[in-house]
Amino acid sequence: MKRDLQLAVGAAVATLVPGLVLWLVGAPSVPALLASLAVAVIVILALGRRWYRQVVARIEAQTAHLQSAIGIAATADIPVYWSGHAITPETLKLIQHLVDSLELRSVLELGSGISTLLLANDFRRRGEGRILSFDDDRRWAEQTMAKLRHEKLDGFAEVRTAPLIDVDAAGRRSKWYDLAALDKAARFDLVIVDGPPAWQGDSMARLPALYVLRQHLSNNGLLVLDDAARPGERAIAQQWQRDFPDLHFRMVQTGRGLFVAAVQKSTLDFLPE
Ligand SMILES: C[S@@+](CC[C@H](N)C(=O)[O-])C[C@H]1O[C@@H](n2cnc3c(N)ncnc32)[C@H](O)[C@@H]1O
Repeated sequence: MKRDLQLAVGAAVATLVPGLVLWLVGAPSVPALLASLAVAVIVILALGRRWYRQVVARIEAQTAHLQSAIGIAATADIPVYWSGHAITPETLKLIQHLVDSLELRSVLELGSGISTLLLANDFRRRGEGRILSFDDDRRWAEQTMAKLRHEKLDGFAEVRTAPLIDVDAAGRRSKWYDLAALDKAARFDLVIVDGPPAWQGDSMARLPALYVLRQHLSNNGLLVLDDAARPGERAIAQQWQRDFPDLHFRMVQTGRGLFVAAVQKSTLDFLPE
Protein backbone atom coordinates (compact mmCIF):
# COMPACT_ATOMS: atom_id res chain seq x y z
CA MET A 1 0.00 0.00 0.00
CA LYS A 2 2.87 2.34 0.92
CA ARG A 3 4.43 1.67 -2.47
CA ASP A 4 1.10 2.31 -4.28
CA LEU A 5 0.94 5.68 -2.50
CA GLN A 6 4.57 6.47 -3.40
CA LEU A 7 3.85 5.64 -7.04
CA ALA A 8 0.70 7.79 -7.09
CA VAL A 9 2.47 10.77 -5.43
CA GLY A 10 5.47 10.40 -7.77
CA ALA A 11 3.19 10.35 -10.81
CA ALA A 12 1.19 13.38 -9.60
CA VAL A 13 4.35 15.39 -8.91
CA ALA A 14 5.81 14.35 -12.26
CA THR A 15 2.62 15.50 -14.02
CA LEU A 16 2.20 18.78 -12.20
CA VAL A 17 5.74 20.13 -11.84
CA PRO A 18 6.83 20.31 -15.52
CA GLY A 19 3.42 21.80 -16.49
CA LEU A 20 3.69 24.35 -13.71
CA VAL A 21 7.23 25.34 -14.71
CA LEU A 22 6.26 25.71 -18.36
CA TRP A 23 3.14 27.71 -17.39
CA LEU A 24 5.27 30.00 -15.18
CA VAL A 25 7.70 30.69 -18.03
CA GLY A 26 4.71 31.50 -20.24
CA ALA A 27 4.73 28.49 -22.57
CA PRO A 28 1.51 27.85 -24.58
CA SER A 29 -0.86 25.54 -22.69
CA VAL A 30 -1.10 22.64 -25.22
CA PRO A 31 2.68 22.02 -25.53
CA ALA A 32 2.94 22.49 -21.73
CA LEU A 33 0.27 19.84 -21.20
CA LEU A 34 1.89 17.42 -23.68
CA ALA A 35 5.35 17.88 -22.13
CA SER A 36 3.86 17.34 -18.71
CA LEU A 37 2.15 14.12 -19.80
CA ALA A 38 5.34 12.82 -21.47
CA VAL A 39 7.37 13.42 -18.29
CA ALA A 40 4.64 11.76 -16.21
CA VAL A 41 4.65 8.64 -18.42
CA ILE A 42 8.46 8.38 -18.19
CA VAL A 43 8.43 8.78 -14.41
CA ILE A 44 5.61 6.23 -13.95
CA LEU A 45 7.44 3.69 -16.13
CA ALA A 46 10.73 4.22 -14.25
CA LEU A 47 9.05 3.92 -10.83
CA GLY A 48 7.09 0.85 -11.95
CA ARG A 49 10.25 -0.81 -13.22
CA ARG A 50 12.04 -0.12 -9.95
CA TRP A 51 9.11 -1.46 -7.99
CA TYR A 52 8.91 -4.59 -10.17
CA ARG A 53 12.62 -5.28 -9.62
CA GLN A 54 12.22 -4.99 -5.86
CA VAL A 55 9.31 -7.44 -5.93
CA VAL A 56 11.31 -9.92 -8.05
CA ALA A 57 14.33 -9.61 -5.71
CA ARG A 58 12.08 -10.34 -2.72
CA ILE A 59 10.55 -13.40 -4.43
CA GLU A 60 14.06 -14.65 -5.31
CA ALA A 61 15.24 -14.28 -1.71
CA GLN A 62 12.19 -16.19 -0.46
CA THR A 63 12.79 -18.90 -3.08
CA ALA A 64 16.38 -19.30 -1.86
CA HIS A 65 15.15 -19.81 1.72
CA LEU A 66 12.51 -22.26 0.53
CA GLN A 67 15.09 -24.17 -1.51
CA SER A 68 17.31 -24.33 1.52
CA ALA A 69 14.46 -25.72 3.63
CA ILE A 70 13.46 -28.27 0.97
CA GLY A 71 17.10 -29.21 0.48
CA ILE A 72 17.64 -29.88 4.15
CA ALA A 73 14.46 -31.95 4.32
CA ALA A 74 15.38 -33.92 1.20
CA THR A 75 18.82 -34.83 2.50
CA ALA A 76 17.95 -35.65 6.06
CA ASP A 77 20.76 -38.15 6.44
CA ILE A 78 23.45 -35.64 5.40
CA PRO A 79 23.23 -32.15 6.90
CA VAL A 80 23.92 -29.61 4.15
CA TYR A 81 23.25 -25.91 3.82
CA TRP A 82 21.82 -25.19 0.39
CA SER A 83 23.47 -21.86 -0.45
CA GLY A 84 22.76 -19.75 -3.52
CA HIS A 85 26.03 -21.00 -5.10
CA ALA A 86 24.99 -24.63 -5.00
CA ILE A 87 23.17 -26.49 -7.73
CA THR A 88 19.38 -26.17 -7.21
CA PRO A 89 17.56 -29.08 -5.53
CA GLU A 90 15.37 -29.67 -8.59
CA THR A 91 18.36 -29.79 -10.96
CA LEU A 92 20.16 -32.20 -8.65
CA LYS A 93 17.00 -34.34 -8.48
CA LEU A 94 16.99 -34.54 -12.29
CA ILE A 95 20.68 -35.50 -12.34
CA GLN A 96 20.02 -38.17 -9.68
CA HIS A 97 17.15 -39.48 -11.84
CA LEU A 98 19.53 -39.73 -14.82
CA VAL A 99 22.21 -41.46 -12.74
CA ASP A 100 19.63 -43.93 -11.52
CA SER A 101 17.74 -44.61 -14.77
CA LEU A 102 20.76 -44.73 -17.06
CA GLU A 103 22.92 -46.54 -14.48
CA LEU A 104 25.65 -43.92 -14.73
CA ARG A 105 28.49 -45.00 -12.49
CA SER A 106 31.47 -42.76 -13.27
CA VAL A 107 30.97 -39.02 -12.87
CA LEU A 108 33.34 -36.14 -13.54
CA GLU A 109 32.32 -32.82 -12.05
CA LEU A 110 33.61 -29.28 -12.47
CA GLY A 111 32.71 -27.26 -9.36
CA SER A 112 32.33 -29.24 -6.14
CA GLY A 113 29.89 -28.89 -3.27
CA ILE A 114 26.50 -30.29 -2.32
CA SER A 115 26.23 -32.09 -5.67
CA THR A 116 29.45 -34.01 -4.90
CA LEU A 117 28.28 -34.98 -1.42
CA LEU A 118 24.80 -36.08 -2.42
CA LEU A 119 25.83 -38.02 -5.52
CA ALA A 120 28.52 -39.77 -3.45
CA ASN A 121 25.79 -40.57 -0.92
CA ASP A 122 23.66 -42.13 -3.71
CA PHE A 123 26.63 -44.23 -4.83
CA ARG A 124 27.23 -45.43 -1.29
CA ARG A 125 23.58 -46.48 -0.94
CA ARG A 126 23.88 -48.37 -4.21
CA GLY A 127 27.27 -49.83 -3.32
CA GLU A 128 28.89 -48.72 -6.59
CA GLY A 129 29.79 -45.58 -8.54
CA ARG A 130 32.27 -42.77 -8.07
CA ILE A 131 32.46 -39.01 -8.58
CA LEU A 132 35.67 -37.13 -9.30
CA SER A 133 35.26 -33.39 -8.80
CA PHE A 134 37.63 -30.59 -9.77
CA ASP A 135 37.52 -27.20 -8.11
CA ASP A 136 39.61 -24.10 -8.80
CA ASP A 137 39.20 -22.88 -5.21
CA ARG A 138 41.65 -24.86 -3.04
CA ARG A 139 39.94 -23.94 0.23
CA TRP A 140 36.52 -24.89 -1.10
CA ALA A 141 37.89 -28.18 -2.49
CA GLU A 142 39.43 -29.00 0.90
CA GLN A 143 36.20 -28.11 2.67
CA THR A 144 34.15 -30.40 0.40
CA MET A 145 36.74 -33.18 0.82
CA ALA A 146 36.59 -32.75 4.62
CA LYS A 147 32.79 -33.10 4.53
CA LEU A 148 33.11 -36.22 2.40
CA ARG A 149 35.53 -37.72 4.95
CA HIS A 150 33.31 -36.68 7.84
CA GLU A 151 30.35 -38.47 6.24
CA LYS A 152 32.61 -41.43 5.33
CA LEU A 153 31.85 -40.83 1.66
CA ASP A 154 35.47 -40.54 0.52
CA GLY A 155 35.35 -44.06 -0.93
CA PHE A 156 32.80 -42.79 -3.45
CA ALA A 157 34.08 -39.29 -4.23
CA GLU A 158 37.27 -37.31 -4.53
CA VAL A 159 37.77 -33.56 -4.89
CA ARG A 160 40.95 -32.29 -6.53
CA THR A 161 42.11 -28.71 -6.87
CA ALA A 162 42.57 -27.62 -10.50
CA PRO A 163 43.76 -24.01 -10.86
CA LEU A 164 42.35 -21.95 -13.71
CA ILE A 165 44.80 -21.52 -16.59
CA ASP A 166 44.56 -20.09 -20.12
CA VAL A 167 42.75 -22.61 -22.30
CA ASP A 168 42.15 -22.11 -26.03
CA ALA A 169 38.90 -23.57 -27.30
CA ALA A 170 36.58 -22.65 -30.17
CA GLY A 171 38.82 -19.74 -31.19
CA ARG A 172 38.61 -18.16 -27.76
CA ARG A 173 40.94 -18.01 -24.77
CA SER A 174 39.30 -18.69 -21.41
CA LYS A 175 40.43 -19.15 -17.83
CA TRP A 176 39.56 -22.79 -17.34
CA TYR A 177 40.62 -25.77 -15.25
CA ASP A 178 44.11 -27.25 -15.55
CA LEU A 179 43.14 -30.89 -16.11
CA ALA A 180 46.65 -32.02 -17.13
CA ALA A 181 46.55 -34.61 -14.33
CA LEU A 182 43.43 -36.26 -15.78
CA ASP A 183 44.26 -39.68 -17.23
CA LYS A 184 43.86 -39.44 -21.06
CA ALA A 185 42.20 -42.86 -21.12
CA ALA A 186 39.62 -41.99 -18.44
CA ARG A 187 35.99 -42.27 -19.60
CA PHE A 188 32.97 -40.87 -17.75
CA ASP A 189 29.27 -41.67 -18.05
CA LEU A 190 28.36 -38.22 -16.82
CA VAL A 191 30.15 -34.87 -16.82
CA ILE A 192 28.59 -32.13 -14.68
CA VAL A 193 29.69 -28.62 -15.64
CA ASP A 194 28.98 -26.33 -12.67
CA GLY A 195 32.13 -24.17 -12.86
CA PRO A 196 34.21 -22.12 -13.26
CA PRO A 197 32.04 -19.44 -11.66
CA ALA A 198 30.86 -17.14 -14.47
CA TRP A 199 30.20 -14.33 -11.98
CA GLN A 200 33.95 -13.71 -11.83
CA GLY A 201 33.69 -11.74 -15.06
CA ASP A 202 33.67 -14.07 -18.05
CA SER A 203 30.09 -15.01 -18.94
CA MET A 204 31.38 -17.74 -21.28
CA ALA A 205 33.85 -19.20 -18.79
CA ARG A 206 32.38 -22.71 -19.21
CA LEU A 207 32.75 -22.81 -23.02
CA PRO A 208 35.85 -25.11 -23.11
CA ALA A 209 34.12 -27.94 -21.21
CA LEU A 210 32.76 -29.89 -24.18
CA TYR A 211 35.82 -29.27 -26.40
CA VAL A 212 38.16 -30.63 -23.72
CA LEU A 213 35.95 -33.37 -22.29
CA ARG A 214 34.18 -34.79 -25.38
CA GLN A 215 36.96 -37.39 -25.68
CA HIS A 216 36.35 -38.45 -22.05
CA LEU A 217 32.65 -39.27 -22.53
CA SER A 218 31.81 -42.99 -22.53
CA ASN A 219 29.77 -44.50 -25.40
CA ASN A 220 26.47 -43.71 -23.68
CA GLY A 221 27.81 -40.70 -21.80
CA LEU A 222 26.33 -37.26 -21.36
CA LEU A 223 27.48 -33.83 -20.31
CA VAL A 224 25.21 -31.42 -18.45
CA LEU A 225 25.74 -27.66 -18.22
CA ASP A 226 24.14 -26.00 -15.18
CA ASP A 227 22.89 -22.37 -15.09
CA ALA A 228 21.99 -22.80 -18.75
CA ALA A 229 19.26 -20.14 -18.66
CA ARG A 230 21.89 -17.37 -18.33
CA PRO A 231 22.76 -15.47 -21.54
CA GLY A 232 26.42 -16.65 -21.44
CA GLU A 233 25.45 -20.31 -21.11
CA ARG A 234 22.80 -19.94 -23.84
CA ALA A 235 25.54 -18.66 -26.18
CA ILE A 236 27.77 -21.60 -25.14
CA ALA A 237 24.91 -24.04 -25.87
CA GLN A 238 24.45 -22.56 -29.35
CA GLN A 239 28.15 -22.84 -30.12
CA TRP A 240 28.33 -26.44 -28.89
CA GLN A 241 25.35 -27.37 -31.08
CA ARG A 242 27.11 -25.89 -34.11
CA ASP A 243 30.46 -27.55 -33.37
CA PHE A 244 29.32 -31.03 -32.27
CA PRO A 245 26.86 -32.28 -34.91
CA ASP A 246 27.42 -35.88 -33.74
CA LEU A 247 25.93 -35.18 -30.28
CA HIS A 248 22.27 -34.82 -29.24
CA PHE A 249 21.14 -31.80 -27.25
CA ARG A 250 18.25 -30.69 -25.05
CA MET A 251 17.62 -27.57 -22.98
CA VAL A 252 15.69 -28.51 -19.84
CA GLN A 253 13.75 -25.85 -17.92
CA THR A 254 14.68 -26.90 -14.41
CA GLY A 255 16.33 -24.89 -11.65
CA ARG A 256 18.54 -22.30 -13.33
CA GLY A 257 18.35 -24.29 -16.59
CA LEU A 258 20.19 -27.47 -17.57
CA PHE A 259 21.64 -27.99 -21.04
CA VAL A 260 22.27 -31.61 -21.91
CA ALA A 261 24.65 -33.00 -24.54
CA ALA A 262 24.33 -36.75 -25.06
CA VAL A 263 26.30 -39.25 -27.14
CA GLN A 264 23.19 -41.43 -27.66
CA LYS A 265 19.91 -39.91 -28.85
CA SER A 266 17.95 -42.36 -26.64
CA THR A 267 19.39 -40.65 -23.54
CA LEU A 268 17.12 -37.67 -24.25
CA ASP A 269 14.07 -39.93 -23.66
CA PHE A 270 14.89 -39.79 -19.94
CA LEU A 271 14.58 -35.99 -19.83
CA PRO A 272 11.52 -33.77 -19.52
CA GLU A 273 10.62 -31.91 -22.73
C1 LIG B 1 28.32 -23.17 -8.95
S1 LIG B 1 29.48 -23.46 -7.68
C2 LIG B 1 29.52 -25.22 -7.64
C3 LIG B 1 28.37 -25.75 -6.88
C4 LIG B 1 28.40 -27.24 -6.60
N1 LIG B 1 28.28 -28.04 -7.78
C5 LIG B 1 27.27 -27.52 -5.63
O1 LIG B 1 26.27 -28.12 -6.01
O2 LIG B 1 27.39 -27.09 -4.47
C6 LIG B 1 30.97 -23.04 -8.51
C7 LIG B 1 32.12 -22.71 -7.58
O3 LIG B 1 31.77 -21.74 -6.63
C8 LIG B 1 32.67 -21.82 -5.53
N2 LIG B 1 31.91 -21.66 -4.28
C9 LIG B 1 32.13 -20.69 -3.37
N3 LIG B 1 31.25 -20.78 -2.36
C10 LIG B 1 30.45 -21.81 -2.63
C11 LIG B 1 29.32 -22.41 -1.96
N4 LIG B 1 28.84 -21.93 -0.81
N5 LIG B 1 28.71 -23.49 -2.53
C12 LIG B 1 29.18 -23.98 -3.70
N6 LIG B 1 30.25 -23.45 -4.39
C13 LIG B 1 30.87 -22.38 -3.85
C14 LIG B 1 33.38 -23.18 -5.65
O4 LIG B 1 34.72 -22.96 -5.98
C15 LIG B 1 32.65 -23.87 -6.79
O5 LIG B 1 33.49 -24.64 -7.57
